[in-house]
Amino acid sequence: MKKIEKICCIGAGYVGGPTMAIIAEKCPNIKVTVVDLNENRINNWNDEDLSKIPIYEPGLGEVVGKARGKNLFFSTDVDTAIDEAEMIFISVNTPTKTYGLGKGMAADLKHIELCARQIARVAKSDKIVVEKSTLPVRTAEAIKSILENTGNGSNFQILSNPEFLAEGTAVADLLNPDRVLIGGDQTPEGLNAINSLVQIYANWVPIEKILTTNLWSSELSKLTANAFLAQRVSSINSISELCERTGADIQEVAKSIGTDSRIGSKFLKSSVGFGGSCFQKDILNLVYIARSYSLNEVADYWEQVIIMNDHQKSRFARNIIKTLYNTVSDKKIAFLGWAFKKDTNDSRESPAIYVADELINEGANIYVYDPKVSKNQMLSDLNYLETRTNKDNEKKLNSSSDVYEICNNAHSIAILTEWEEFIDLDWQKIYDNMLKPAFIFDGRNLLNRIKLEKIGFKFYSIGIS
Ligand code: UDX
Ligand code: ADP
Repeated sequence: MKKIEKICCIGAGYVGGPTMAIIAEKCPNIKVTVVDLNENRINNWNDEDLSKIPIYEPGLGEVVGKARGKNLFFSTDVDTAIDEAEMIFISVNTPTKTYGLGKGMAADLKHIELCARQIARVAKSDKIVVEKSTLPVRTAEAIKSILENTGNGSNFQILSNPEFLAEGTAVADLLNPDRVLIGGDQTPEGLNAINSLVQIYANWVPIEKILTTNLWSSELSKLTANAFLAQRVSSINSISELCERTGADIQEVAKSIGTDSRIGSKFLKSSVGFGGSCFQKDILNLVYIARSYSLNEVADYWEQVIIMNDHQKSRFARNIIKTLYNTVSDKKIAFLGWAFKKDTNDSRESPAIYVADELINEGANIYVYDPKVSKNQMLSDLNYLETRTNKDNEKKLNSSSDVYEICNNAHSIAILTEWEEFIDLDWQKIYDNMLKPAFIFDGRNLLNRIKLEKIGFKFYSIGIS
């Protein structure tokens, strides 16, 4: 078995950054270098002020602070890091394709392919290449083919080691994972490579929690785990609409079913819809793969999870319009939250983007407060949809770091992210400065409805009539 002394991680994003910081902290004898093409991002990772690292995750600054400069390095020199390392993690982004075959469905693997070609070009010694990014099943085959056909004769072993961390709790998830999954070839060389990676995790993860499988099971397990989790959210959201019609209360229903140990209580929180970089992308991937094997029933089954999620976001927006007397034209709507969940500055696929888009289509002016997402990011999220020109988006979307200013003279407030700081705002002051009737649409069932109704707010919660 190869003892690993130097690791390189390509991609200093939400997955690569936190994962490598924990590996470095837990394995002081391994030199970990995280590389990225994005110079700005690397500069931010190297910022003396740990509050400026590019990813907001509770506890991450302290971990980076402990290891950086000792055995954790951030650099743009990709070639040197590849050359030095015995093990290379690929943690680059794999967004849904926006062009060509599989547009809107398949994962775009261009960054992965570029990494594989770069590794092949630079490597002068044998390497273990670890897929960390979420990938369609059998991507390892493509990586292997590139490495073997374009390399300089070095031997490569490919492992799949999908990341299960959730944003906002990345540090805790990495320190104490439910399991670590490592897939590899079931040949003597493959098993040896698997073992090298097992030994790294064994520095802090109990060995019985480290599962090893073949490559394809590992790749497919990641897609399946995310599809199952997302499916639970869509299932409870589908019932929330029925609750609103029948007088049942979604929180009571969720609690009642969640106490059945076969169902379990997690991921039953009804919301304006799921977001994040993984759920939608991974399900679309699953659907695309199933269709490519002509498994149409399988594809349709999983596609319904996305259809339900789109419906939930849209019905939240339409409910705002309907309640505000069927017109939001030139009305001020305050958004509390833009991130796809609390405790992260990530807004990829956030429901807030789609709700804002639908309201702006009806003429609304959106004013957003989010403690961690910048106005530039919000605008870039909206521009990405290409519904209207960037200039028009700039006219319709505003932001401020003062939540009270955001709510002043608003016709309604919509809660899009469950940031805990929203619970203890001075709601009386907010009410006094809003146009009446003052509406709150709580897309996260975060606030105390009874208390706010007492102040005078008209209140809408998801799944509660
Ligand atoms: C997810 C997986 O949980 C993680 O294992 C994988 O590695 C990456 O994808 P993440 O997207 O970071 O993690 O966050 P997660 O906590 O899963 O939430 C995803 C979305 O579902 C969020 O928008 C969240 O608000 C929403 N959600 C989650 C609900 O609406 N209700 C719930 O009960 C749970
Ligand atoms: P994830 O959530 O999967 O971590 P991110 O978008 O946060 O995704 O991070 C991926 C990172 O990978 C980005 O910072 C991007 O600049 C980087 N990246 C993409 N392709 C390459 C490449 N060929 N070489 C180095 N870095 C890359």
